[in-house]
Amino acid sequence: MKTLTELLHTEFPLIQAPMAGVQGAALAIAVSNAGGLGSLPGAMLTPEALQRELAALSNGTQRPWNVNFFCHTPPEHDAAREAVWRAALAPFYAEAGLDLAAVPAGAGRVPFSAASADILEPFRPPVVSFHFGLPAPELVARVKSWGSVVLSSATTVDEARWLVAHGADAVIAQGLEAGGHRGHFLSHDLSQQMGTFTLLPQIAAAVDVPVIAAGGIADAAGVAAAIALGAAGVQVGTAYLCSAEATTSALHRAALQSAAARHTAVTNVFTGRPARGIVNRVMRELGPLSPAAPAFPLATAAMAPLRAHFEALGSGDFSPLWSGQNTSGCRSLPAAEITHQLTKGFECLS
Ligand SMILES: Cc1cc2nc3c(=O)[nH]c(=O)nc-3n(C[C@H](O)[C@H](O)[C@H](O)COP(=O)(O)O)c2cc1C
Repeated sequence: MKTLTELLHTEFPLIQAPMAGVQGAALAIAVSNAGGLGSLPGAMLTPEALQRELAALSNGTQRPWNVNFFCHTPPEHDAAREAVWRAALAPFYAEAGLDLAAVPAGAGRVPFSAASADILEPFRPPVVSFHFGLPAPELVARVKSWGSVVLSSATTVDEARWLVAHGADAVIAQGLEAGGHRGHFLSHDLSQQMGTFTLLPQIAAAVDVPVIAAGGIADAAGVAAAIALGAAGVQVGTAYLCSAEATTSALHRAALQSAAARHTAVTNVFTGRPARGIVNRVMRELGPLSPAAPAFPLATAAMAPLRAHFEALGSGDFSPLWSGQNTSGCRSLPAAEITHQLTKGFECLS
């Protein structure tokens, strides 16, 4: 089996987690140039923005980089579910003096498609990673035909086996500590989700591709611990959220660096899919897991005006303050410095 650096052609087996909504090419460039694998999240970009960010990324580094996509099946619009969701949000709309009838039913996030592949093809990305499984076999084959290495997140041993059987070159073992969306795709039963250091050795024993540990890794000691448990490398997200190159809002940065960050939970109230963030008012009052939330990503549209209203008042009560459980690595430093600190954890490999 190849090592992760042989597979990715990076100096270090360290991946900066793609984080939709809080970063663009700048963070990815900084991490790739520092010897890790920088990642560009594509999930929330329009085709024009994706094209622009890919151009910036491929011009900004001579080293390997990754572009990431969600690959969920878009739900049918369900008027009855939408009505239940709007009824749940109505008291907050009344409080804010906002008009629920004016909310457009929007899509929010779109999955990887043939159109995304058309945009990617000229850039021949060194690595393409996916969340929520993999796209259709013909799309996976198309991505691989350019020589791109394909990665995806597994949250159970079954998902890891499925990903390898369907073409993943390496598997990201995403533990329950991780910030942002849970990557599960075979079962929606959250009781099957495990912590990183429970999941990682089980996946490493079950598959014959490199396994990348993700979730709760925030410093060199965490990196070394993951390697000791069988990881071929690590993927780190939360520790980059306060980096100089991230576009994380001031409100989100302040929450990450406050005592509030000690309490995170997995919630579906922002998008309809379980994701980990710092507990705030709307998570407390509606969930954190609400049966009223419509299917991913349809919850987003009706939450967006509340978010905008309260953020304008300086409040993150209705904002997705995505965060992993371990915020101890969140420092306002250049991403290259954060990368350098993390890579000290690989000294055990040499
Ligand atoms: C703000 C934020 C946004 C995220 N967005 C994505 C995404 O767009 N695609 C993806 O594959 N993973 C995403 N993730 C999950 C990461 O890939 C990874 O599993 C997680 O950051 C690892 O745990 P950690 O945050 O404790 O380091 C996101 C995580 C965070 C914190």
